[in-house]
Amino acid sequence: MTQDLAPLVQDPSAGRSTGWWRSAVIYQVYVRSFADSDGDGVGDLRGARDRLPHLADLGVDAVWLTPFYASPQADGGYDVADYRAVDPLFGELSDADGLVREAHRLGLRVIVDIVPNHTSDQHAWFRAALADRHGGPARERYHFRPGRGESGQWPPNDWESVFGGPAWTRTAGADGAPGEWYLHLFAPEQPDLNWDHPEVAREFASVLRFWLDLGVDGFRVDVAHGMVKAAGLPDIGRGEQAKMIGTQVLPFFDQDGVHEIHRSWRRLLDSYDGERIGVAEAWAPTSERLALYVRPDELHQAFNFQFLRCPWGAAAMREVIDESLAATAAVGAPATWVLSNHDVVRHTTRYGGGERGLRRARAAALLMLALPGSAYVYQGEELGLPEVEDLPDEARQDPAFLRGRGARARGGVPHGNEGAERSGQDGTRDGCRVPIPWSGTTAPYGFGPGTSWLPQPAQWRELSVEAQSGDPRSTLELYRSALALRRELPGLGDGPMSWLPAPEGVLALSRPGFVCTLNTLAAEAELPVPGRPVLATAPLEFGGGAVRVPAEACVWWAV
Ligand code: GLC
Repeated sequence: MTQDLAPLVQDPSAGRSTGWWRSAVIYQVYVRSFADSDGDGVGDLRGARDRLPHLADLGVDAVWLTPFYASPQADGGYDVADYRAVDPLFGELSDADGLVREAHRLGLRVIVDIVPNHTSDQHAWFRAALADRHGGPARERYHFRPGRGESGQWPPNDWESVFGGPAWTRTAGADGAPGEWYLHLFAPEQPDLNWDHPEVAREFASVLRFWLDLGVDGFRVDVAHGMVKAAGLPDIGRGEQAKMIGTQVLPFFDQDGVHEIHRSWRRLLDSYDGERIGVAEAWAPTSERLALYVRPDELHQAFNFQFLRCPWGAAAMREVIDESLAATAAVGAPATWVLSNHDVVRHTTRYGGGERGLRRARAAALLMLALPGSAYVYQGEELGLPEVEDLPDEARQDPAFLRGRGARARGGVPHGNEGAERSGQDGTRDGCRVPIPWSGTTAPYGFGPGTSWLPQPAQWRELSVEAQSGDPRSTLELYRSALALRRELPGLGDGPMSWLPAPEGVLALSRPGFVCTLNTLAAEAELPVPGRPVLATAPLEFGGGAVRVPAEACVWWAV
């Protein structure tokens, strides 16, 4: 497949002048945890709008807003009941409009989430489907099937939900008599759409237009690998399927048919001015398969989860970087780096937590921002926030938790989703979703006037934007400096990169006029001085023509 793409491969430097997204740093706003304007404890669009100056000041190019659409919130808004309406929890349509305008005024682009794999069970289509018994046409927009077994008592196939338990739920008629089953790869409140139905594609094209007309600069496509299922919905033949996501071929993910949908969306995006983009959240078994989502006629970017999952260490990091660059270069796309998002344990904690985790997280951030391509920053990582690991069970809202361990905690039966950590959706996703601290010395630390929907740790007082601003050693100032330099130094962002010789445990990468050295070792490394240091995650010592780079530190050099 990559072969017939060869003629389309572009000169990487050509993208620099044409595609803003090829170098963009995009900041993920998890709306419910960013800023609360009305005191209900949940972040909202007005709150986010008021905090946009922080993002402009931080130096990012764009903002990605997680779903704020009308939703019963069974999965933090990834269960959409009306794709054209703003949920009252987050505001009104005029607030979305106001936010987009204000962002544009500040020079920030805005990307919104689109959730095409499934709707909410409260979506008008699904309610009509339930009302339309036994194979009626309203059911054809979803996947309804009779059960297996004498009385249809078993699910139609052996697929498992990413959140644990079977991927099927049986319906019941008004009289309570059991009926057909419907497919939901996520929670039962998130029925999967049938993308073979022409109305589904038509409706989503219209929804995309609705938001493009409002002025958004693109979409983060949720579960972009999921819309098409293998014909006949074949059994997989084994359990623990969540462990297979992103490493093996599954009949419900990464099917070739999804690319046709992305092509049609690209044509739609291209019909608008201003380079509107599509970003795939896609789990594919290899970097090569992931790169198929960003072929020139498909989406613009795909999150690089291989990089996110990569353990700390020079050899492993270098391998993932090489593989990702080769795969994206083969299709002429930029790489898209990401360390954290609302589905995974924050990287400060993944890298070991405490001082060491923070040291590594800061170094990894400088590495990421030095790599060719685009990068995503998840809200709070610029503050070095750790995962909140001791949230009380009663506070947790992640549906994966409620279906797994949380089911037992609340007196129910767990479905067992032991393998789900593969996909990041292991039921502990609330710990990275705790509202971020802005200012002050008591919770909710400027998040809003009311008690935040998830409790914030007392130590976060020292990590607030206010507490870190102006302190040159803070993580916030490190990000600010890095993002400012990224704009200033022409060698950063999209463009060429090569490796320089370095001792074991050290990575040295070269960009035009620029070098980045990362010491991954637990001991300091003595290295030749490659240029003038412009930014470092820890103090450097010079002597005898050499520099001593502290343990687990990263340095940027102008050459
Ligand atoms: C994506 C989202 C995640 C959500 C899931 C189902 O993985 O990032 O938060 O639970 O899709 O929509």
